[in-house]
Amino acid sequence: MNIIKGSRAVREAARDYEKYSSDLQGDQDVRDYKQLPLEVDPPDHTEMRTLLNPWFSKEYVATLEPEFRKIAKNLIDSFEDEVEITHELALQMIVQCLGVTSGRPQDVQEWYSWGPDTWITDEDGIRHGDHLDRYLKATFDELDEHPTDDIFGVLNTAELAGRKLTRKEKYGMANLVLAGGRDTVVKLMSGSLWHLANNKEHLNKLKAEPELIPEFIQEMVRFLSPLPMMHRVNTEETTNPEQPVFAWLSFVSANHDTEIFDEPEQIKLDRTSNRHIAFGYGRHTCIGIHLAQLEAKVVLEEWLQRFSDWEVLPTSELMFELEDYVYIPSRFHRLDLAVTY
Ligand code: HEM
Repeated sequence: MNIIKGSRAVREAARDYEKYSSDLQGDQDVRDYKQLPLEVDPPDHTEMRTLLNPWFSKEYVATLEPEFRKIAKNLIDSFEDEVEITHELALQMIVQCLGVTSGRPQDVQEWYSWGPDTWITDEDGIRHGDHLDRYLKATFDELDEHPTDDIFGVLNTAELAGRKLTRKEKYGMANLVLAGGRDTVVKLMSGSLWHLANNKEHLNKLKAEPELIPEFIQEMVRFLSPLPMMHRVNTEETTNPEQPVFAWLSFVSANHDTEIFDEPEQIKLDRTSNRHIAFGYGRHTCIGIHLAQLEAKVVLEEWLQRFSDWEVLPTSELMFELEDYVYIPSRFHRLDLAVTY
């Protein structure tokens, strides 16, 4: 596997879309359309991203803070002595906030039922996407009959370079709206509470100075790098388009590059100029960056106000499988906490 590592090299590759193209389709086991605008290069990329921008702009997302806070408070108030964070707090928060952001609160329970991955993995480890295919088809069929002005309703009638989007393009954009901020934000929220359970000095500092929470989130997103790598087609090495040669951009290596970060394996509250690229770099930089940061900030603020302390229970299931970075939890299958008021 050709992995591009280090802050400088990853940034350079992420900028050079002619050599490292995003024109590909991943997850072929579970979908037969591209996730958009992720898997396309300019000029289509630019136009598709512009279509989605109104729901993800910093200004729009900031207006949602009071509603996000209500969601976080309701969830946190419902907990008793023990809570499973990945599903009961993180995933609930994510789908309910997306219901508000996208204007589709009626779909929240169905989104929740898919779990943190969007795809459902069976007992044999095989992934399935048919529930999502059914949802996308039913949603856009319904929108053909009854137009709406929510995010999918607007995509349904939107134009790209003077033509309507195809069904597969609509599926690809809707899919990424649903999938982009799930396991990534689950990891960020779970990882933050996991760290504060293990580091009481940081817990006390954040309690005393909650204005440090946004910087703490930046440090956690750097440390965790919830989307550790993404692939590109190396156009210079690909001779047969049927057999693309891939290159992997290792965001996690950039975020743990010792030339940029002092003791990158440490989580520091006083890290100055945190030049991480956990949300990507260049044209494909995460469109959900403001949404993810606001969700995490609101959850941490409310959580820290409500609970004085918490500990990780042994029933938790964490994976540490990032080859060069085994000290980073790569996955929280479940995070059980015992809380103290
Ligand atoms: C901690 C949370 C998140 C992390 C770490 C993260 C990370 C990333 C990264 C690294 C990329 C760039 C991929 C590449 O260059 O190939 C990306 C792109 C993207 N993300 Fe996120 N993401 C997060 C949350 C979200 C949320 C909340 C949403 C929306 C609901 C979202 C939607 C997207 C979309 C649509 C793209 C494609 C952008 C484009 O191609 O122009 N992400 N994300």
